[in-house]
Amino acid sequence: MGFLWGPEGFTEDEAGVLGDVRDKDVLEVGSGAGQCSRWVRTHGGRGYGIDLSLRQLQHSRRIDEETGIVVPVVHGTATALPFADSTFDVVFSSFGALQFVADIDDAVAETARVLRPGGRYAFSITHPTRWMFPDDPGPRGLVASQSYWDRTPYVEVEDASGAVAYVEHHRTLGDWVGLLARHGFRLTDLLEPEWPEGHDRVWGGWSETRGRFTPGTALFGADWEPVAREV
Ligand SMILES: C[S@@+](CC[C@H](N)C(=O)[O-])C[C@H]1O[C@@H](n2cnc3c(N)ncnc32)[C@H](O)[C@@H]1O
Repeated sequence: MGFLWGPEGFTEDEAGVLGDVRDKDVLEVGSGAGQCSRWVRTHGGRGYGIDLSLRQLQHSRRIDEETGIVVPVVHGTATALPFADSTFDVVFSSFGALQFVADIDDAVAETARVLRPGGRYAFSITHPTRWMFPDDPGPRGLVASQSYWDRTPYVEVEDASGAVAYVEHHRTLGDWVGLLARHGFRLTDLLEPEWPEGHDRVWGGWSETRGRFTPGTALFGADWEPVAREV
């Protein structure tokens, strides 16, 4: 399946936002079943994963066995990475973790801590402008109905138990730029993949109907500047 940055099918082969991963130590945060890290391994990098979900890590292990491309993974969270300072050359997340954590400052600070000076950070998230629209793949999903600046998290609760089943946090584009700058990153890329011609797959709120008009994925690329760490 390869390395996809989002439902538009935009691949790392097309984006090239990680740079050359050959001989690099590469951490995927929110690695899920590990397909992106497996791409890293087939391109000569030492790819590792971390995920909060044991179930996802079990899938990852099963696919390791099926493919023979093994991605070492650990169980943990983006906001407390269980690695020493300056361990990785590249850290990335493809729709992994970042929009699900409340304490985003901790997650970005942890990324800066485990990166080596001059390291690379890249991540994709739901494009922040999508927050204004209902999560509907049809025409209703093109009509703005809530404020872009309302950062109240989206929460789903299980009917039977009342337990929180899903939480998503919204940050504006300006929030992301400020967050990266605050932690010593120099933003180099903000890619907004277009919906490709003839791509008719519907995935949640992503569809051709919406994708022809509005971006669904934002892909950030940034360099970690060692000078900023000392400030
Ligand atoms: C939408 S999936 C993406 C998985 C993978 N990156 C991919 O491209 O298929 C999001 C992943 O982030 C993980 N995740 C959510 N919150 C996390 C956290 N705080 N720390 C680490 N992983 C987290 C989830 O368990 C899930 O596997």
